[in-house]
Amino acid sequence: MTVITTIEDLRRIYRRRAPKMFYDYCESGSWTEQTFRDNTSDFTKIRLRQKVAVDMSNRSTASTMVGQPVSMPVALAPVGMTGMQHADGEILAARAAEAFGVPFTLSTMSICSIEDVAEKTSKPFWFQLYVMRDWDFVGRILQRAKDAGIDTLVLTLDLQLLGQRHKDLKNGLSAPPKPTLANLINLSTKWAWGLGMLATPRRKFGNIVGHVQGVSDPSDLMKWTAEQFDPQLDWSKIERIRDMWGRKLILKGILDVEDARMAAKIGADAIVVSNHGGRQLDGAHSSIRMLPSILDAVGDQVEVHLDSGIRSGQDVLKALALGAKGTYIGRAFIYGLGAMGQAGVTKALEVIHTELDKTMALCGERDVKNLGRHNLVVPHGFEDPAVLM
Ligand code: GLV
Repeated sequence: MTVITTIEDLRRIYRRRAPKMFYDYCESGSWTEQTFRDNTSDFTKIRLRQKVAVDMSNRSTASTMVGQPVSMPVALAPVGMTGMQHADGEILAARAAEAFGVPFTLSTMSICSIEDVAEKTSKPFWFQLYVMRDWDFVGRILQRAKDAGIDTLVLTLDLQLLGQRHKDLKNGLSAPPKPTLANLINLSTKWAWGLGMLATPRRKFGNIVGHVQGVSDPSDLMKWTAEQFDPQLDWSKIERIRDMWGRKLILKGILDVEDARMAAKIGADAIVVSNHGGRQLDGAHSSIRMLPSILDAVGDQVEVHLDSGIRSGQDVLKALALGAKGTYIGRAFIYGLGAMGQAGVTKALEVIHTELDKTMALCGERDVKNLGRHNLVVPHGFEDPAVLM
């Protein structure tokens, strides 16, 4: 039995347990995967400043994200098809997040529906919206989120069309998987996953199936997004969503200083510096490299969060010390979920929390809110996106 001490341990177990098509879906970037790789490797270019002979007692990682108290500023990112990584995945991840005191964000493209997750949790979670061509559907899903007591909407801006991920095309990704020979052979080795799936009624896109009419089979994510997602999403439509929602709004997928200024201007409560985990525009910079210039431009006007590339509490600390007020993990919690269900998500959060807490102490800090540039050694040129590193 492996003693789990890292997120990488969870990834290895997850890889053995999950069907290949869903592992590949999670563990892919678009095209050459350069941005996907940069997201993690750029974190390693930032070093930490060791401080000794400081009182390390009574440490706290508690903070707030868009005004909500969190036990550490690490939310669970919206991840499509989480309920295919493990039966009832969104419910299990939401429960783990709730118990840990961090936000869970439910994807529009989830398997468990808004109502399913609301029924099985006791505190409001966050909801992520993809804007569809069908504005009636957008209006209805926002109302469903409000009816479920949700007060924070995460609007994704970097996926009007899906970045091409070769493995998904080759695997014929769908939810649920189609009974092809290759799938049946692979699934026959994933019996624990299969038993879980047989025992749950939740095997389709729960927010979509039964809520839209006249669309082709929504099991095919790639085909369905191409048909349904609004390719004309622009700032005026974002303002329209802001007004339709009328509650807290986080704009996710900002990687450009001008876009960050627009997002701040329209009155977002927070922006997420993100390249969608390297899954959209391959060749774009990593999120951590774009964070400093975006903070310089809008850090005094809007709360700035970061996702893409976080696999440890040290990565969280580096983002916070550069000035982010919050971070998100996607793959890091999916590894835990696919490995061990709810206990695995809790384990992923514990691993990250321990790394964050101990690193903070060794940097001579006792409160996560006091982290700053003084804790880091940032290489020359890191903050200048025009410098190739
Ligand atoms: C959807 O959000 C995806 O990245 O596949």
